[in-house]
Amino acid sequence: GLDTGQTPRAEVGVIGGTGLYEFVSDAEEVTVETPYGDPSAPITVGTVAGRPVAFVPRHGRSHEYPPHAIPYRANLWALRSLGVTQVLSPSAVGGLRPEVAPGDLVTPDQMVDRTWRRIPSFVETGATHVPLADPYCPRIAKAYVASDPQVKVGGTLIIIEGPRFSTRAESVHHAAQGWTLVGMTGAPEAALARELRMCYAPLCLVTDMDAGAAEGEGVDEDDVYALFAANLERMRTVLTDTISALPDPAGCTCSTWAEGKQLAYEIP
Ligand code: ADE
Repeated sequence: GLDTGQTPRAEVGVIGGTGLYEFVSDAEEVTVETPYGDPSAPITVGTVAGRPVAFVPRHGRSHEYPPHAIPYRANLWALRSLGVTQVLSPSAVGGLRPEVAPGDLVTPDQMVDRTWRRIPSFVETGATHVPLADPYCPRIAKAYVASDPQVKVGGTLIIIEGPRFSTRAESVHHAAQGWTLVGMTGAPEAALARELRMCYAPLCLVTDMDAGAAEGEGVDEDDVYALFAANLERMRTVLTDTISALPDPAGCTCSTWAEGKQLAYEIP
């Protein structure tokens, strides 16, 4: 890309999951420093569907960060500091319920955070408690479906600490709760995005049925990667079409909570 010597600005952010290590072509590479260290990789900023987009591969360029070691705070902070207000979050997940099957794209509307060793907030002192009853942006979810009517909407994503998959008993328990999908990276991403007043919505590719929802040996890592590879182009198309369909984020409840109040941190 062209180096103008100025830090480029972006409006839409994409955090690429397993298999999606590049998204914006003809992009400028930006090294962003944050108070929380370096993001997973330099951010690439370019144009997709006519909109300025910033992309960060969640696991790093060569998948060096496993789910529990991803610099989540740096990633979200870096995107926000480039101007991003809407974040699309593709990821690979396991299915827990018969309503979903491998190959499905799903944008869930609820989440259960079962992670326990990640720093979940920008709040380090003081009292800012973000509302997260509805963790995901309904406007982005609508845009996912508008761009591909086969995207399923709704359901609950439980995020486990990983990097191991669930035991069968854990998985049976998750399914019995009525939860739909299981992943390892959706938290603390969603809460961090909300703290920064960014709209955020996951786009989950079901790569396997989790141990409690399937007969057999349980999840095989190679199946996860193979399924992701087979659906990569479709995922790219949905993301591109979604970016062109995204409505104006202004006034969205993702950003209007505690309006006018002093927060415990300063949004970059
Ligand atoms: N990511 C992809 N498949 C998964 C599974 N079964 N459990 C947790 N995370 C996953």
